[in-house]
Amino acid sequence: MMAQTKTALVYFSVSGRTQTAAEAVGRYLQLTPAALTAKAPYPTSGFQQLVARTDAENDQDQLPEYVPLDVHHVETLYLGFPTWYHQPPRLIQNFLTTTDLAGKTVIPFVTSASSRVTESLPYLEKWADAGDFTIQDGFTANTPDEIAIGLKDDFPL
Ligand SMILES: Cc1cc2nc3c(=O)[nH]c(=O)nc-3n(C[C@H](O)[C@H](O)[C@H](O)COP(=O)(O)O)c2cc1C
Repeated sequence: MMAQTKTALVYFSVSGRTQTAAEAVGRYLQLTPAALTAKAPYPTSGFQQLVARTDAENDQDQLPEYVPLDVHHVETLYLGFPTWYHQPPRLIQNFLTTTDLAGKTVIPFVTSASSRVTESLPYLEKWADAGDFTIQDGFTANTPDEIAIGLKDDFPL
């Protein structure tokens, strides 16, 4: 199906929850998730080390470099990431503001301890305006039910 081949699924995950969510999304979409990774990897063991890294990024206003992904053929991009401090990670900011996404549609899904995707949307909308792409409302993806509900417009159950 043409539309399907123009859809991609990308996620950023440090401790694995967003990866698990992306794999579930991928089963519905019949797509293999692609990991967006930092050139300088995030610490995966030790919450305090990860917090130290993200604090440094915030304090120093860093936009961490990512390993580029080829999305030029993509029309619709599902993009999963954890919520950090009530917003998308700075790696996601860098990806969305330095990748040419003009004319494309991005559908965000987030994992979190409790934050909803709505906390991240104002940031995403600002970057979408600047980059001339469209952000859909997306969904929170902390449980299989949330993922099923979040995808229901694409896959009526
Ligand atoms: C630095 C940091 C900040 C976080 N901030 C929030 C937050 O604002 N709201 C929330 O609900 N969860 C927050 N969390 C929890 C993560 O969003 C949650 O553990 C996420 O599912 C991790 O995704 P991952 O396993 O794919 O890396 C934070 C975690 C870290 C490490």
